[in-house]
Parts: sequence; structure tokens; C-alpha cells
Amino acid sequence: MAKTGYNIKTIEWQGDEVVMIDQRLLPLKEKYIRHQTWQEVASSIKTMVIRGAPAIGVAAAMGMALAAQQSPAETYAGLKKDLDLAAKGLFETRPTAYNLGWALQQQARIYEKEAEPARIRRLLRQRSQEILEEDISMCVAIGEHGAPLFPDGARILTHCNAGALATGGYGTALGVIRSVFKRDRNIKVYVDETRPFLQGARLTAWELEQEGIPYCLITDNMSGYFFKKGEINAVVVGSDRIAANGDVANKIGTYTVSVLAKAHGVPFYVAAPTSTVDLSLPDGSHIPIEEREPAEVTRFRDCECAAPGTPVCNPAFDVTPHENVTAIITEAGVHREPFAETLAAAKKGS
Ligand code: MRU
Repeated sequence: MAKTGYNIKTIEWQGDEVVMIDQRLLPLKEKYIRHQTWQEVASSIKTMVIRGAPAIGVAAAMGMALAAQQSPAETYAGLKKDLDLAAKGLFETRPTAYNLGWALQQQARIYEKEAEPARIRRLLRQRSQEILEEDISMCVAIGEHGAPLFPDGARILTHCNAGALATGGYGTALGVIRSVFKRDRNIKVYVDETRPFLQGARLTAWELEQEGIPYCLITDNMSGYFFKKGEINAVVVGSDRIAANGDVANKIGTYTVSVLAKAHGVPFYVAAPTSTVDLSLPDGSHIPIEEREPAEVTRFRDCECAAPGTPVCNPAFDVTPHENVTAIITEAGVHREPFAETLAAAKKGS
């Protein structure tokens, strides 16, 4: 597998197996995990071997293809039963990422329309590969739409990892940054470390390093200092789910960054494919927020950081109200208020 820049293979088919880079071990180790069953894929999504909403969607689609492959059923009814079970198991892994349900729906459309098991198996595999490839093309388009929004010599803050690792490749927020860098080498990226899972420190910094994009890692509580000094003049983040009115769920801490950006008059951009836009939810208050293990907060790898039994809250995402969002960049273009209209139009065209 290629190892650098946007050629990082986050996930791919190798023969009849789905291979993923283990993101829990990065940047210290590059280890690849092979998956032969949908249950293994579900476990890898749940335990963050693979993470980032678009990448989770690709994994779920491939998981469904594996489910079809592993099912011994010879009849349509038998295969559908196995596929429904896999879809439920995959869906339950991570509740906030809308791309997960979107990808499962894409696969369900196939096996609800087709009746012949061999054909269903072939089409599910084919569609999963298409979802991967479409995701990369969407990220490149997002980058191209987003790049002109940034000033010369941009000083950009990003939160979490919305890079090649979080998508089929290239990235959404990091895709925009890659495209800005192609036009202007004189940029700098402020990378929030992103407690508690450290996606910024471990993954975003690693991706930027591979591509020679100038960056500086900061702890999450330092961003206010840099905003106040006028050192940040744009923010770009990804998203796990965007409600119809433009409210944006993203990694915990994103809301805080949006408030700081607004207070300092700095534009706050969200980069995401239209497959992240959930028009069924009128606003962000309906977005399910995943609560994760206390151990993610109390320890890091082998290091205990809090006393045993310390009470912990660990919401993995927060919601940034649309009033704090300057624009949402999708593969369809740059969308501004009124988001209810501009997002609906983008989704219709996708
Ligand atoms: O918990 P994670 O690592 O899956 O959270 C990821 C994020 O919040 C990303 O910003 C989001 O999924 C967009 S990835 C292109």
C-alpha cells in the first residue's frame, strides 16, 4: 500500500478481504488489519480502527459486501435475512456519522431491487468500490470549491482529523487545505490536538507532515490565545452530520472553536460531502450524540491520567449552530445562508 499524502490507503479491497490501516496505532506504527466478515468490520468501526464519517460509510458498504460473500444462503429470502442482520449490526456501531446510514441505504437499494443472490453479491461489492471512489472525487471537488475562499498566506485552524484517513482519500477539511497549499505554499495550519482521542495530534499532524504542509500542533485550550493574537484568519473543519438548517455535528470541541471564530470575526468553514447532509433532521438538536468509554478520558494508551473510579463525561461530538457557520463546502459548491434552501438544492443535485 502507498503510504504518503493523499495516496494513503485508508481502506481497500485486497482479493476478498477488506484491508484498513489501524488508525489507533498511528503515527507510531503502520499496521494493516484484514477483514473477512462484516462482524470484524463492525468491530473496527466501533473501536476506531477506522473513523471519520465518510470512511465509516465506505467501511459499512464494504461490510455489507462481505456479509453477502460470507452468507451461505442460496435463496433470496435467506440472503436478505443475513444482509438485514449485518445492516443492523453495522448501523449500531456509531450513531452520529450520517454517512454510515447513507452507505447502508445505498446497499439496501440494491438487495431490495435485485432478486438473484449471485448478482446481489456482485453488485454489493461493486457499489462499495464505487462509494470509495466517489468519496475521493467528492473530496477533490470540495478542495477545489473551498480553496478560493482562503486569503494569501492563510493561517488556518482545523480540529480533529478530516483528512485522507477520515475519508476514501484526500480528505474534506484537509482536502481543502491540500488544495489551498497547491496554490499558495505560504500557508500555516494550526492543528488542535483534539482530546480525548487525539485525532489532531496523531493523524492530522501526521498527514500534514507527509505532504510538507507547514503546521503547528497546539492543545485544544490554546486556540483562544492564537485567535486573540490575530494569528488565525480561517477555520475549516469536517462534519459527521449536517441538519437541514445547517447546524453541524463534528468532533467535540468544534463548537468552542466556532464561538471563538465568531468572537474574533474569523470565517468558519465546514467541508463535507452531501452524503453527510441529513435533510430529515430540521436542526442539530435532533442529531444523536455518541457517548464513548470513560477510559478514553481517564487514560491514554498505557498511561492512567486520573484516579481509578473518577466520574467521566465523554460526548464524542457537539453541534455548531448554523449562525456560527460562514459557509458549508460540498462537492456541489459553496453554500451559505439560508442553509435550509442552499443545502436542499445541493442535495437534490447530488
Ligand atoms: O470520532 P471520529 O474520529 O470518527 O470523528 C471524526 C470527526 O469528527 C471528523 O471531523 C468528521 O467525521 C469528518 S471526517 C471527513
